[in-house]
Order: sequence, then structure tokens, then C-alpha cells
Amino acid sequence: MDRSSKIAFVGAGTVGGSLAVSLSRGGYEVVAVASRTFSSAQKLAGRVPGCTAYESYQEAADVADVVFLTTSDDAISSVCAAIDWRPGQAVVHCSGAASLALLEHAAAQRALPGAFHPLQAFSSVEVGVESIPGITFGIEGEGALRGYLRQMALDIGGNPVFLRPEDKVLYHLSGVMMGNLLTEYAALAAQLWDHLGMSREEGIRALLPMMRQVAVNLETSGVPGAVAGPYVRGDVGTVRKHLEALSERVPELMPLYRELALAGLRYPVEKGALSRERAAEIKSLLEGFGSALGDA
Ligand SMILES: NC(=O)c1ccc[n+]([C@@H]2O[C@H](COP(=O)([O-])OP(=O)(O)OC[C@H]3O[C@@H](n4cnc5c(N)ncnc54)[C@H](OP(=O)(O)O)[C@@H]3O)[C@@H](O)[C@H]2O)c1
Repeated sequence: MDRSSKIAFVGAGTVGGSLAVSLSRGGYEVVAVASRTFSSAQKLAGRVPGCTAYESYQEAADVADVVFLTTSDDAISSVCAAIDWRPGQAVVHCSGAASLALLEHAAAQRALPGAFHPLQAFSSVEVGVESIPGITFGIEGEGALRGYLRQMALDIGGNPVFLRPEDKVLYHLSGVMMGNLLTEYAALAAQLWDHLGMSREEGIRALLPMMRQVAVNLETSGVPGAVAGPYVRGDVGTVRKHLEALSERVPELMPLYRELALAGLRYPVEKGALSRERAAEIKSLLEGFGSALGDA
């Protein structure tokens, strides 16, 4: 398997489309696409030079050495089971949470199962293609497929990492905490602007430059270098004011704030900015404030 191997995609959605275009631009032979809806396959084929849209999954798979199953997670197993595989043909899904067990029908026919998960939030093909350089690809697979997928990630500007099956869900969780829950966290922070008499949108606009700078700080200084704020300064009085304001005006955010603050307290200590004694004081304030509320 190498750059001249013929590639097919079954599932012409956001990730399938982004990868197909990106691989084609990277010099890979993307020759076939099929999807649940033929018009989706035709649309993707139109974006990739030399790629043909097929009505049936089998026809698309038959002309390829490597087949990406880029359907929704729930459909991967049934789509895989609907195809007759050749020995040595590679069958790859792009799910971050699912194991290779979804491809057991292909493995039983002596095809080579693999996973190639782009650790990125994709919402459209146009933006998706541009967002691939620099991202990490979580790879599973054995033998020749392992090296092939590693090289593929490098060829489209990615950073390949190999995953053990037992670590896959935790790996995916790290992405969900960053890509999905961070968005919700940002929304909750912006929602506080409601209480200032301004809109959530104004809150997002006000907080976004800070979010961008946090990313830059993490990139340049890493952890714990990038951590900043009252916890690093050891400002116990400020933390107390936060807790009082939350309990009075936004009590529903109190559990989240306390748990995050407690879980993150180790980083200012690791940075050497917060003494263990001051950290213990903040910890007991955070814990004690919660029980005082519970007692009330
Ligand atoms: N979106 C992300 O941020 C992201 C990130 C990393 C990995 N992934 C993974 O990438 C894979 C694809 O996700 P996606 O976000 O690209 O989903 P998506 O945009 O919803 O695309 C899935 C495509 O699969 C097709 N499909 C659905 N059921 C099918 C079936 N039974 N047979 C054939 N085709 C079927 C649909 O085709 P039609 O248009 O023809 O109906 C749809 O276009 C998933 O495994 C997902 O976990 C997603």
C-alpha cells in the first residue's frame, strides 16, 4: 500500500468529503465514492478529479485497494457487512470512539481493518479541508496498513499517533472535552453576561479574544506555564468573592466552578507559583463553601 493505491469512500459526508479532497490534493488516488444518497456521492465526486460516483457500495469498494467507511458511526457495521471484501483489501473507519470490532465482517473475509480518526471538529467540507494541516490522527491497524495510514497522515500535514484498543475511548474523551465541552463551557461563561444586563452574544464577543490568547499561551508555554489568574496569584479573597457572587446570583454554576477550580489547583502548584499552604487554604475554602451551602 502506498500513495498510488486506489482509494474509495463510502459515506459522502463532512469527514469523508474533507478527507477525500485533502488526500486527492496530497497526491493520493481517490477513485470512487458511494453514499446512502447518490446525489451526495455525485457532489463529492465532482470535487475530486478522477473520482467516480457509484450507486452501490460494492461497486465503489470493488475498484479500490483501500476503502474508507465514513458513514455515521451507527451505520459503519451494517455498511461493512453489506460489502464482499477481498483478502488484503484495507477497510478503514474514522470514528474516534468505536473499535475495530465494527469491521469484523471485513476481517472475517481476510481484509485488513483499520481506523484513521482526525482529531478535529468538522462542520463542512470547505472548512474541513483547510482545518486538516496540523491535526492529530488516531490510528489503529496492523501490518502494512499501520505504516500506510501513518504516512497518509504525514502526507496531508497531520501528526499520526497509534492507539491501543483499550485507550480509544479515553482518547476520544479528550477530544470531546476540548472540542465539544469547551464550546459549552464558553457558552456558560458568556451566559453570565445576562446577569450584567448584556446579551450572551456580547459575552461571546468579549471573551473570544481571551479564548484565542489562551490557545496561544498553551501553544507557546504549555502546561503549567500557561495557567494564569487568581489561582496562580493565590488571591484567596478573590476566590471567596466569586463563591459569594455565585451562591447569591448564579447558584446553578456553583458545582461546576468548584469542581473545576478544585481539579485544576494542581497546575499553579506545579508551576511553582502557588505554595502548597496557600493551595490548601483555597482548597478548604472551595470545599467548605460547598458544605456551608449544603448545610443551609
Ligand atoms: N464531524 C466530526 O467532527 C468528526 C470528527 C472526527 C471523526 N468523525 C467521524 O467521521 C465519520 C463521519 O462523520 P461525519 O461527521 O462526516 O458525518 P456526516 O457529515 O453525517 O456524514 C455521514 C455520511 O454518511 C452517509 N451515511 C449515513 N448512513 C449511511 C448508510 N447507512 N450508508 C451509507 N452512507 C450513509 C450520509 O450520506 P448521505 O449524505 O448520502 O445521506 C452522510 O453524508 C463518523 O465515524 C464520525 O464519528 C467525525
